[in-house]
Formats: sequence, structure tokens, C-alpha cells
Amino acid sequence: MNGLKKAFVGALAQALEQDAASLEASIVRPPDSKLGAFAFPCFSLAKALRKGPPQIAADIAAKVVAPEGTSVVAAGPYLNLVLKPCVLARMAVTSSLSLDPTGSVTESGKGRTVLVDYSSPNAGKELVYHHIRSTVIGAALCRLYGAAGWKVVAVNHLGDWGTQFGKLILMWLREHGMDQEKSLVDLGSVTLSDLNRMYVGFKPAAAEDPTLEEDARLWFARLEAKEAFARTCWERFIEVSKTELNKVYVRFGARFDHFLGESFYEDKLDATIARIAKAGILEESEGAQVVHVGENIPPCLIRKRDGATLYATRDLAAAIWRHEHFGCDRALYVVDAGQSLHFKQVFAVLERMQEPSAKACIHVPFGLVLGKGEDGNWSKVSTRSGTGSPLPAVMDMAAVEIGKTIRALALQKESDLTDSDIESLSESIGVGALVFNELKNKRLVDTKFDLEAILSFSGDTGPYIQYAHVRLSSILRKATKPLNPAKARWELLCEPETDAVLACLSQFGERIDQAVEANEPSLLSQYALELAEKVHSFTHHHRVLDVDATPERLLLVEAARRTLSRVLTILGLEAVERM
Ligand code: ARG
Repeated sequence: MNGLKKAFVGALAQALEQDAASLEASIVRPPDSKLGAFAFPCFSLAKALRKGPPQIAADIAAKVVAPEGTSVVAAGPYLNLVLKPCVLARMAVTSSLSLDPTGSVTESGKGRTVLVDYSSPNAGKELVYHHIRSTVIGAALCRLYGAAGWKVVAVNHLGDWGTQFGKLILMWLREHGMDQEKSLVDLGSVTLSDLNRMYVGFKPAAAEDPTLEEDARLWFARLEAKEAFARTCWERFIEVSKTELNKVYVRFGARFDHFLGESFYEDKLDATIARIAKAGILEESEGAQVVHVGENIPPCLIRKRDGATLYATRDLAAAIWRHEHFGCDRALYVVDAGQSLHFKQVFAVLERMQEPSAKACIHVPFGLVLGKGEDGNWSKVSTRSGTGSPLPAVMDMAAVEIGKTIRALALQKESDLTDSDIESLSESIGVGALVFNELKNKRLVDTKFDLEAILSFSGDTGPYIQYAHVRLSSILRKATKPLNPAKARWELLCEPETDAVLACLSQFGERIDQAVEANEPSLLSQYALELAEKVHSFTHHHRVLDVDATPERLLLVEAARRTLSRVLTILGLEAVERM
């Protein structure tokens, strides 16, 4: 469709004797695709041409040479590019049929690099349900940018540094009667749930014995000083965390090019602070070092009075290091909206330092996960509803529940799905349901954790979309006529339901570009729902498999299936073919 837009702009430019580049930005999509594929509003020309926009539209329509297969029609103040029915059908279907299952769909990001910092949880404790948000939104953004032709560098800024590791080392020692030798022997078999137990256990232990706080700080200081025992424990704790994290990432199809945790920047902090000082913006405040970043926001704390550096210091070092190593045009931070102030401060410091990275940085915030409480109200933390449960456990639960539905369906249809088919389908659809629930609404909207609704096969859910793909796949499996686009009589695809599908297919690339520009995967999820609905209406109204049905309909089904499959994979759901 991009080629068509260019041809339209070219024709207008010629008729107006104007530069094409300046016209391209004003091209819009008519509100109803029946009006045309693209439209040019004539308002901006009124002043120069001293005529009313409708008159201008009529004049241009009379002299423009319309691109092949199209006509340029004046409609009030607009010029619409109307496609001959067969042209839209040919273009939409053939471009869908040639979609690369993993490659890019558009080229808008060609030659540009985006760094996506996502998931980035704190190590040493289990992922709980709300961690799904950054993980799933970030992974979708990586694939979206990839689909728009960007080079993507996915980074996990693991929280692997800070006093909490002093606490863990201390608790580990306490569980071994403060015997280092003995604790080292056990280190090989430490699990993430051990770490979680110690993490949770520290607070009550310190309430009973207040000296523990100071001891934990000392252990962290030893870790910072690279003392062997502390270092060995810490390395093992991180390794255990990463192993468990990776299991979750595999299930979500979340991929990272680099795990560069906060500890990675430890030896770069002095240089970073020196750089801030050199920029002349580091100030002393009650013994601490800060950078003022504006009237209405608190200064960014760079070094505490006791010499300790902070989360922000490490983020500054990271932004600079990443920019030097990856040279990104955009750097996305997919982190909850609760950290907005932090990123405002960090980006403002970079700006004041005149770091080139400042312009690339974008915080991509998102809302909370809400659970239903005892009182029936939705709230942030609700243990009863499962929002406080470990993420892998919720994923398992989703798969088990979906498994029950699929098994029942298989029995009812007497299908030949094996147990292992059902198992893998349950995982794909169960996890896909959780993913879609996180992506279906604008990311700043809080999501609701209601497993029953999330796993439903009707409504705007993952299972609904995956089932739509299954239906199309099943039609194509039953088809006996060969698919032959070269011989297609495109003018036969002319019913209103067909047009609706074609219009939707023709917008795929545009939707991807819009989702990228807004860093908003929900634009693509909504597209998936639209496409599924339109295809449903088409197959409901028109016979596709009958002997006398035109084979062009099958081509349309295959085009829709391919597009839906590509959308699903970009979002992070598997395009399953049976269930
Ligand atoms: N570890 C942090 C947390 O769990 C998120 C890190 C996000 N990325 C960053 N560069 N600050 O809150």
C-alpha cells in the first residue's frame, strides 16, 4: 500500500507542480474505506491559491493523472484515491501472501537501531504476577520494531546490586550457623525459593534483632570490595535467579541480546560522576551530591552522604555506556508508571550533561495489575485474586485450565489430538491468553487479573484470536482447490464483507508503523480483534468450501490467515493451527 500512497502523492505533486515530500505528510486515511484508500485534504492550499478547498479539490481532480487502476475523486474539500475493486483485492491479497513469517513487514525503521530495556526485575526473589507487564509489553515492542525494519537490541537491566544482596548473604550465613565453609558446600543446591524465603525473612528477623541491618550493610560493603566469600555467594544467587528467569522468558518468547545488570556499571560509576562534575552541574547538598533538574522536580541524587551510589547513578552510567556501544536512535525503558519521576530526573541529567543519549531516551510507562479483593473491588495488591502469586505458578494454572477446555472440545469433536498435542496447545493458549490480556488495552490503563475472563474463548481475549486462526487453518486444510493468485479474477472479491477484510488487510503495515510510533502494542492487538471479526463475518456470510464457491475466496482466507498469524507472533502468541 505504501507504493500506492507514493504514486498518489506523485500524481498530486505533478498536478500541483509542488514538491512530493511536502505533500506526503498531509495524506490521510478516509474515515470509511469505501470512500477511498487515501485522501488529500485541500485546506492548506486555500490561502496560496485564493480559492475554497472544494473548488481546489475539483480543479485538481479534473487535471490529475490518476495512477493505474485508480481514480482520483473530489469529495468536498478532499481528494480521494479510489481503487478499482480488483486493484485493492490484488494488492491486499498478494502482499499478505508474500508476508515473511519472521521478517519485517514495513521498512519505516530501516537503518535505525532501538534499544529496549525491559523486564529488568530485581534478582534474588521470585517473579510475581505483575512482572508480566514489562516482560510482555517489552517483548512485543521488540518484535514490533523488528517488524518495522528496525535493528533491535534487547537488554535486561537486572537488579543485581544493592544492599539486598548483603541481606541475602547474611541470611544464608545465619541459616548455616554463621559457618562460611558449611554454607559454601550448600551453595550448589540453593534454589530461588530459598532466596525468596531469605528475602522475605529478613524483615521480621531484623525487627527482632536490629543489629542485622548494620551487618547486612557490612556484607554488601564486602561484596563491593570483591571479598571472595561474599562474591561467591552473590554470583551463585544471580545464577540461580537468571536460570529461573530464563524459564519464564522462554515461555513468553521474550528474548534478550544482553543481560547487563546494575552490577555491570559498578566500575563505571566514578567515571560517570566525574563526567557529571566536568559538565559543571554536580552540586553539594547536605553532604550529598546532586544535580538540579528543574523547578518542579526534586534534584537527582547522585551520591549519598555515606558515599553510596544509587539506582539513578547506575542508570546514568548505563545510558551513556549503551549509547557508546550500541549507538541507538531510540532507547526505550519499559518500566511501570510509578518510576516516571526517576526517569524524568535521569533524562534531565543527561540533557544537562549534553549527552547525545538524552535525545534517544524514552520512558514507556504502563499501569498496574489490579486484582479483585474480598469486597469485590479491584485494587493493586490482592493476594486472594492471585496478583501476588509467583508468575510461573499463574502461567501453569492458565495452561491447566485451558487444557481442560481443549480436552473437552477434543472429546466432543472426536478429534485425533494426542495428549502431547493437547499439552503443547494448553501452554500456547494459556500463556497466550495472559499475554493478550496485557496487550489488549492502552498500556497506561491498569489491567485486571480475572483468570476466568482472561481464558474465555469469547470476547476480546487471546483464546478468541487464536481460535480465529484455527478456524481459518481448518478451512484451508479442507480445501480441495489449489491456491493460484496468478490466475485469480480479483473482481470476484466484491461483497461488502469481502471489502471489509481487504481494507483491513491493506492497513497492516500502517498499523505496525503507528504502533511503533506510539510504542503501543495495543494498536496491533486491536487490529487483531478487528481482523478476526471481519474474517468471521466474511466466512459466516459466504461459502468458501462449496464446490461452486469461487477459489478467490480461498485466497482471501489464506491472506487473512497469514496476516493474523504474523500479528499473533508479533504480539507474542503462537499461531496454533488446531485445537
Ligand atoms: N529493577 C527495576 C525494578 O524492578 C527496574 C529496572 C528498569 N530499568 C532501568 N534501566 N531502570 O524496579
